[in-house]
Amino acid sequence: MSSLPRRLLAPTPGWTMQADVCIVGSGIAGLCAALHARAAGLRVIIVTKVNIDDGSTRWAQGGIAAVLGPADTPEAHLSDTLIAGVGLCDEAAVRVLVTEGPSRVRELMAVGAEFDRNPDGSLSLTREGGHHADRIVHAGGDATGVEVQRALHAAVRRDPGLRIVEHALVLDLLTGADGRAAGVTLHVLGEGSADGVGAVLARAVVLATGGMGQVYAATTNPSVSTGDGVALGLRAGAVVTDVEFVQFHPTALFLGDAARGQQPLVSEAMRGEGAVLVDAAGAPFMRGVHELADLAPRDVVAKAITRVMLDQGVHHVFLDARHLGGTMLEHRFPSILARCRAAGIDPVHEPIPVAPAAHYASGGLRTDLDGQTSVPGLFACGEVSCTGVHGANRLASNSLLEGLVFAGRIGAELARSLPPQADPVAADTVGAGVLDFATRTEVAEAMTAGAGVLRSADSLVETRKVLDRLGTVTSTDLGPLAWEATNLLTVATALVSAAQRREETRGCHWREDFADADEGWRGHLLASIDEDGLLQQDFEPLPAAVPV
Ligand code: SIN
Repeated sequence: MSSLPRRLLAPTPGWTMQADVCIVGSGIAGLCAALHARAAGLRVIIVTKVNIDDGSTRWAQGGIAAVLGPADTPEAHLSDTLIAGVGLCDEAAVRVLVTEGPSRVRELMAVGAEFDRNPDGSLSLTREGGHHADRIVHAGGDATGVEVQRALHAAVRRDPGLRIVEHALVLDLLTGADGRAAGVTLHVLGEGSADGVGAVLARAVVLATGGMGQVYAATTNPSVSTGDGVALGLRAGAVVTDVEFVQFHPTALFLGDAARGQQPLVSEAMRGEGAVLVDAAGAPFMRGVHELADLAPRDVVAKAITRVMLDQGVHHVFLDARHLGGTMLEHRFPSILARCRAAGIDPVHEPIPVAPAAHYASGGLRTDLDGQTSVPGLFACGEVSCTGVHGANRLASNSLLEGLVFAGRIGAELARSLPPQADPVAADTVGAGVLDFATRTEVAEAMTAGAGVLRSADSLVETRKVLDRLGTVTSTDLGPLAWEATNLLTVATALVSAAQRREETRGCHWREDFADADEGWRGHLLASIDEDGLLQQDFEPLPAAVPV
């Protein structure tokens, strides 16, 4: 294996900003963490890669899962989450999620988020895959993320003391002599004083950079989701875990074999309202696969679709929502209808062609229950983190909830203890590197071919060969495209290494050559990069399940 960069090769910072807390990313996790830190009286700078609204949050359709209905209980939400996670969830983290979730959703409403309501004024709750109760709040029908982002954006804009730096790609962590986070280096496409490579010095850094879906050729993730936070964390010596568990959303709109990059999502909430998956002959195929049929956990549905596609030699199946009727579909799923119609498909009159696409990284930077990573002063929140709530497969609509809940806990931790600013030690240039930006396409094609929804030892070896070769294609042409390409190769290497090592099928890690879950593999694969840039792995078994 070729070694991975320990730092991104970049010009020396030409300018500096200072805050108590530097938050990287501006989706639900980043903005909520910022609001909590501000409420604790801290000086906060948010740095975000493009514009404040360009992250994954605004693309969320389905909603936020939380126990808000009278017939539901946190125990029931806990149980559904643990089942979806197939033995790898951290029960303490899930308990935090389901018990603190409802009040965090109410806080979000107090900040201004408007969720859909029933005629009697109560919250309209829907269901998605893996849930045994209606517990998902939504907004604008299928535009929950847009509303959440709008409300949070308005809240941060109301605070003149909160500084936001847009068009800022984070590069590397700065640390003090004791190894504690002391800020970040970043590249800003700005004007005047903050332009080019600079540094934000801070007493704590919160990574809320979202996911890594762009490591695949087709994904529901926006173009900014290039694994920047996980790659930065790895370079800083942080531990990542569960990265082999990439959730493929069962129903991305199929736009043809040549479609690349972000694909439109067809929300699971459509199946929650009664839409049915059918094959090319119109035959439903989820009944008999799982007791929840079309609403089985996402990994089960994605696998069933992939099996149909392989057996029938086709590249997509269909989601039939016609029986729901035009009025209902227009009201409940306006965004999905608009996207389908823009692609020449009218869900009111014809089934929607759908196929699985990379959707969500269940793993990431390992944190404790307060969002603290293994590097002191470096926090992670939202999809970039691995708090333990998702295990081997995230339960639908638990992701916005995780961002909300753990941002609150990070805010509380920052308010409790924040050491003085450390002086950053000079960056070691040994091990600094950057890849040619042209490697990006090849990485994504290789990942989809060999490390996608279905994997095997042979397919993973082929992907690994490509990654190892591309890891030697270095560049001296420094800039955001090359830095992103380097991040993508770093996270792809961690993902493929873990997928190779885990010789079982569990949750969204599906090995063709190891068809079943293996109790010996019930545990976490941890990864970090050593001083020589080599990826080191460790397996942490979980205690054997107690028979009941
Ligand atoms: C969806 O609306 O199907 C996606 C929701 C999620 O990823 O939790």
